[in-house]
Amino acid sequence: MIGRLNHVAIVVPDVKKAAAVYRATLGATVSEPVTLPPHGVTVVFVTLDNTKIELLEPYGADSPVRNFLARNPDGGMHHVCYEVEDIRAARDQLKAQGARVLGDGEPKIGAHDKPVLFLHPKDFCGTLVELEQV
Ligand code: CO
Repeated sequence: MIGRLNHVAIVVPDVKKAAAVYRATLGATVSEPVTLPPHGVTVVFVTLDNTKIELLEPYGADSPVRNFLARNPDGGMHHVCYEVEDIRAARDQLKAQGARVLGDGEPKIGAHDKPVLFLHPKDFCGTLVELEQV
């Protein structure tokens, strides 16, 4: 069902400092910070040959990653995103196997303007999983 690893998301307290680590220390190709108010994050995209890393800093009081940062003040891996061809078909197949889909179960338009869903970490080895239809 799942295809490529689209990205790994890492929540950080300061996205500019995190960008510098990836650019200067790790020698990666790193974007300028982009604030996405509807998603409550400022994001830096790190482009690797085979996938992306997204460095996320909370933006606004209602940011969905603010609590995560409070629990992980140095930052930490927040989720992995796998690509699927048909997100509703994937959701229905997963639900039929007892997996929990977060929210109301309807795909939302994610940070890449594509439909996404999140799956409960307790059903996936302790890792928050995002599915993105590509
Ligand atoms: Co993501």
